[in-house]
Amino acid sequence: MNKASKEDLKKDKKIEEEKPIVPAHTEQRRGMQRPPEEEEEDIRARAPIALVVRSPRGMQDVLWDDMRYWDIVSDTFKQVATSFNMKKVSVPVVEEAALFERSIGETTDVVEKEMFFVKDRSGTTRLALRPEFTAGVARAYLEHGMSSKPQPVRMWYQGPVFRHDRPQAGRYRQLTQFGVEVIGEAHSIIDVQVIHLAYEAYKALQLDAFRIDINSVGCLNKTCRPAYINSLKKHAQDNTRKLCVDCKRRSKVNPLRIFDCKEEKCQVVANLAPKITEHLCEQCKEHYQNVLRYLQDLGIPFRENARLVRGLDYYTRTAFEIISTLPATDPLSGLALGGGGRYDDLIQLLGGPATPAIGFSGGVERTIMQMKAEGVEVKNNDMPDVFLAHLGDLGRRRAVKLLDDLRRSGFRVAEAFHKDGIKAQLRNADRVKVQWTLILGQKEALDNTIILRNMESGMQETLDLNLDSLVPALKKRLHKEILTSHT
Ligand code: HAM
Repeated sequence: MNKASKEDLKKDKKIEEEKPIVPAHTEQRRGMQRPPEEEEEDIRARAPIALVVRSPRGMQDVLWDDMRYWDIVSDTFKQVATSFNMKKVSVPVVEEAALFERSIGETTDVVEKEMFFVKDRSGTTRLALRPEFTAGVARAYLEHGMSSKPQPVRMWYQGPVFRHDRPQAGRYRQLTQFGVEVIGEAHSIIDVQVIHLAYEAYKALQLDAFRIDINSVGCLNKTCRPAYINSLKKHAQDNTRKLCVDCKRRSKVNPLRIFDCKEEKCQVVANLAPKITEHLCEQCKEHYQNVLRYLQDLGIPFRENARLVRGLDYYTRTAFEIISTLPATDPLSGLALGGGGRYDDLIQLLGGPATPAIGFSGGVERTIMQMKAEGVEVKNNDMPDVFLAHLGDLGRRRAVKLLDDLRRSGFRVAEAFHKDGIKAQLRNADRVKVQWTLILGQKEALDNTIILRNMESGMQETLDLNLDSLVPALKKRLHKEILTSHT
């Protein structure tokens, strides 16, 4: 993985509202007698497709060209989370809607506007597609009696979540999150470990154009957040004419949510609002100062942001976001690549004992957009090492066995055993852009040899078909690096 040009960038900047219904057809090669099977392939590729069903809006297919980015994000996060001693968990994609309503909060955008409800056949349970992981992981902590395990329990996860947002660049209806939850410890050092982990993950992906914003949203002690909410309510009421309809309503029940509103006029009101950090109780203040000090000790850069309250109701004390600092012309600029915070009251809210916790989640799609915008290039490991062509029936029979032997020896082998003619097979080898082709014909099968053809120079040499000598001979000619990634 290394940094390179930004050529793919534009492709990912916009979700296509309309998808092409006629796929691009393969280029016609002139002056070449085309076998009927190839003609047929091209006709099929060019035929207009009357697509009856398309992918749902805001939900995307990921094909192999992009999949290498997905794999690297996934592998890197796994590696970083494991290095922080986290254990992997998986929770259902569907949960009872009440879990999210209770945890995330009824008046949050996520619950109020973005939840996908699922009808179960009995009609007795209200189900929803998960809009995030934290609530499900907290439920699992309780359901599996994890409080009896050594605390804190450190978990990581990855998978799809669903939010019925308005699709646009960096905003999808099916998105993929990776993240961690550390449940069962209130010490500020845990907050720092979680922020550190997030920082390391983005750094390991060679990203630089991001910053960490941090704030404390206090606790539910009367003198802390409730006191702040009162002064925020007053500020909102004083400015009620400037707020959108939603914020007018929310300012009475949950004024913190004004900070999440995407309307410009509401953001102006939010920017002039009193700061929560000026209302923190002594314990929250001390916790926050400790977090900042440990971050400084570790050399993790951060920016205090008194307006950062996060869009989910369960947060207490530390709240943080990883924000893209790409130029303003980039659609990702200013958007969060990830975010997290403490949720010390959530386990209790779900019926468990008072149990402090903190976590973080990042979005895979936004992370990949950021990688492309920053020119992080991921090596294509999808290329076959060698193409195996055959001639005649005996050649094909030996080639089928040889393919298996080569595969077991760590080679990635392309073939077109379904084709008879050598020309068609070599054309296929050209298309998959392999540098080396092995040709096994009747004569070679009888002599126990095989031809190795360099597809660039056209030079051919005869090698011993015996695996003990063929494998090292091939390894010598192929790039060692490529092989080590398969073996
Ligand atoms: P969140 O900030 O709602 O936090 O989402 C985390 C990340 O998911 C965002 O920073 C963003 O990268 C990505 N994301 C969210 N919505 C979308 C969308 N519509 N399209 C594309 N990407 C999106 C949570 O979900 C919390 N559960 C994080 C957490 C874990 N807090 C404590 N533990």
